[in-house]
Amino acid sequence: MRVAGKAYRTIWPAGDGRTVRVIDQRRLPHEFRVAELATCREAAAAIREMWVRGAPLIGATAAYGVALAMAADPSDAGLDAAAAELAATRPTAVNLAWALDAMRACVAPLRPGERAAAAFARAAAICDDDVAINRAIGANGLEVLRGLSAAKRGAPLNVLTHCNAGWLATVDHGTATAPIYAAAEEGMALHVWVDETRPRNQGAMLTAWELANEAVPHTLVADNAGGHLMQRGLVDLVLVGTDRVTARGDVANKIGTYLKALAAKDNGVPFFVALPSPTIDWSVRDGLAEIPIEERDAGEVTHVWGRRGDGGVEAVRIAPEATAAANPAFDVTPARLVAGLVTERGVCAASAEGLAGLFPERRAA
Ligand code: MRU
Repeated sequence: MRVAGKAYRTIWPAGDGRTVRVIDQRRLPHEFRVAELATCREAAAAIREMWVRGAPLIGATAAYGVALAMAADPSDAGLDAAAAELAATRPTAVNLAWALDAMRACVAPLRPGERAAAAFARAAAICDDDVAINRAIGANGLEVLRGLSAAKRGAPLNVLTHCNAGWLATVDHGTATAPIYAAAEEGMALHVWVDETRPRNQGAMLTAWELANEAVPHTLVADNAGGHLMQRGLVDLVLVGTDRVTARGDVANKIGTYLKALAAKDNGVPFFVALPSPTIDWSVRDGLAEIPIEERDAGEVTHVWGRRGDGGVEAVRIAPEATAAANPAFDVTPARLVAGLVTERGVCAASAEGLAGLFPERRAA
């Protein structure tokens, strides 16, 4: 994606063979800042403190975290320590464990002296694969959008999205946004309802910024507006990303996604989920029982970030000092509420059969 005319990925090696650069997302849309990660500890902190976020980008950053660790200490103990530190950062997005497994499979069989170069190369390949996967998701999701758009007879197709499953959540293009960008590119009449996505406001701060950069027509709405918009016939499709999909098609995504799926079901609005295959956790079936839900700092609920009149960016408290807050960061949408899963291999039903049809090599797993 382009920012002020310059093409960026969200993560890239600095070229010195020792450091990695990321876009620090904490101050967007107010400040665009590129940060340097020089150690595995810094990569882990960047994931935990959400300089980087979004399931595929968490995986890509963890991959580079292992590479940075191998540059410092390529021993077996160094590999184990790096994997443990990175694995402990955020629990819900399965892309993190997937990337750590891929990195271990790459470097563990090698002699220590060979590990750093191989790890940097594998991390770069994971990033390149993510970009290719998201392009394919864009092409497959575009078919869904074209089908729905045809019934609109030239009126804009209204897509509602939650959180940020965009370029900033991946290495490039995004998952849920990839079909939207593809549709905009071919000139489809399109409009996106952007849920603000409390408590961290990834919709207001990140998705809206991305769509504005790409000149995609969009409107920011409070999280609770979605049901009302659907009742008025103002939403043709809900399209979201995900942090983990189970083998039978249950979907974990940013808190509030489940309520959108319920409202969509009640109003006959198709609810689609876009995902790259590393987001499928083939080892679990029942999303409600088996997907760990991250509980984040209550300060994200009691405070909001914003820009002051003088241009500075700060968090301000919106709740009484004495009020306790809870902050579950994700919820699980049961497969029965999902109209379809958009993957790099095509679109399928949110079911064990649907996923096995697209990924037959996993059928026996
Ligand atoms: O807490 P975040 O910002 O990491 O949550 C991100 C999401 O919930 C995204 O929708 C999900 O990771 C899909 S990203 C392609």
